[in-house]
Amino acid sequence: MTFIRQIRLDHTADTHRYPFTLPVVQHLIKHPIDLTKPITFLVGDNGAGKSTLVEAIAVAAGFNAEGGSQSFRFATRATESSLGDHLTLSWGTRKPRTGYFLRAESFYNVATEIDRIGDGILASYGGKSLHERSHGESFIDLMTHRFGGRGLYVLDEPEAALSVKGCLTVLRRMHELVDEGSQFIIATHSPILLAAPNATIMEITDTIDEVPYDAAEPVALTRNFLGEPDRFLRHLLD
Ligand SMILES: Nc1ncnc2c1ncn2[C@@H]1O[C@H](COP(=O)(O)OP(=O)(O)O)[C@@H](O)[C@H]1O
Ligand SMILES: [Mg+2]
Repeated sequence: MTFIRQIRLDHTADTHRYPFTLPVVQHLIKHPIDLTKPITFLVGDNGAGKSTLVEAIAVAAGFNAEGGSQSFRFATRATESSLGDHLTLSWGTRKPRTGYFLRAESFYNVATEIDRIGDGILASYGGKSLHERSHGESFIDLMTHRFGGRGLYVLDEPEAALSVKGCLTVLRRMHELVDEGSQFIIATHSPILLAAPNATIMEITDTIDEVPYDAAEPVALTRNFLGEPDRFLRHLLD
């Protein structure tokens, strides 16, 4: 059972400027996305519109556009597109007990906001300022201590901070949180995270299409490369 079951975009949205001009957004107007599994991955090349979409979903779900829990309201700059205002989310009957929106790009600002709020909440992040941990360590702290069961988690490229081992740690923690009734929506390039069970992988090109694990580009391309790096490089560099 997912909290968010479907994402729709109303067709009255202004279509003459970013983000409405992006092919993926145009596609969404005609084709709602169904979220049937506890984990939904969004993959796609740089510039495909993953961050735009993930941020809009987070905003429509009530999160601060720059990240944090639903109670965070800080803003360091106004970059959020107004796409979130035009999205309609269909919610199931079960409501999330907690949640978090995290974008690799603004994790620093989230850490600063947590410090500003102070001692009261530091304990729920592992007891140490996230600024005194490495980016990867603080992300794992966050998932271990702050994330909990029955949560809604919207993440943009969580692997940005993580080693391969870190990705495996996060994969295991995600699995645990899903067992405890959580839902994840994640934009990622990580073939490791994409291997999570109970997941749908949506590939964004000019359209949004569900793809099996082996066909997802980060998986297929990485596998291809690692299978024969020398041959791959010869092709690439010639
Ligand atoms: N604030 C903005 N104003 C205009 N164009 C933008 C803005 N933010 C992103 N874009 C453009 O929208 C496209 C999708 O960006 P983004 O969603 O960040 O892609 P992804 O996360 O898939 O790499 C890119 O081509 C980018 O240049
Ligand atoms: Mg992005």
